[in-house]
Amino acid sequence: MIVCHCEGVNDHTIREAVGRGARCPETVAALCGAGALCGGCRPAIEDVVDRMTAAGEHGGQSGRGRLRSA
Ligand code: FES
Repeated sequence: MIVCHCEGVNDHTIREAVGRGARCPETVAALCGAGALCGGCRPAIEDVVDRMTAAGEHGGQSGRGRLRSA
């Protein structure tokens, strides 16, 4: 699923960036470009980072849930 439409970056690539050590949207942007332009996807990127770090950096076993709760 595409998360960053400006850069065409999907959730898999963002998870890879987190797996490589990204812990904030700025680092994710530096690693894969997601969130580097309009910033509209940053809440979704933060959610991926939060979920992965909460899951022990493995992305959890149920990574197909919502990106962001209301
Ligand atoms: S949608 Fe990601 S920077 Fe614009």
